[in-house]
Amino acid sequence: MKHITFQLNGSARSVWVGPNETLLDVLRGKLGIKTPKEGCGRGDCGACTVLLDGKAVRSCLILAVEVEGQSVTTLEGVGQKGPTALQKAFIENNVFQCGFCAPGVILAASALLAENPKPSEAEVREALAGNLCRCTGYEPIVKTVLAVAKKTARQSTSRRVRS
Ligand code: FES
Ligand code: FES
Repeated sequence: MKHITFQLNGSARSVWVGPNETLLDVLRGKLGIKTPKEGCGRGDCGACTVLLDGKAVRSCLILAVEVEGQSVTTLEGVGQKGPTALQKAFIENNVFQCGFCAPGVILAASALLAENPKPSEAEVREALAGNLCRCTGYEPIVKTVLAVAKKTARQSTSRRVRS
């Protein structure tokens, strides 16, 4: 067992982990973080997506020992002061059905918009290609991400014009 310390949703956490334990197992089993889901357990579905130092990664493929000193964000850490624009839009557009994919999709889309605030449709589809959704057919997800990007760009342009 190894004792590791890392940032989890903005707070330092320390935990003992085994050499083969995945980040997903430790988050769900030892730290009470339940939004990352185990869909396939082998990197295919994206349901276990978390942000590692801001990048979307599959937590079922990362060994917990690897995150020592890094920063992990799960959906529990997003919108702590109220839902983000992306979360609000997903709710308003009633995008998700069963919701199993939702945490992973929201984190992957958040990482994309943080890195590329004005993505093309192809870039949105590429960023979300690893997040499988068996309910929505993907169209409402992609449209919502594009609409949020457009609205955010309009708001920042009008803020620039006013100042
Ligand atoms: Fe990790 Fe499916 S559970 S990608
Ligand atoms: Fe059911 Fe995406 S809403 S899997």
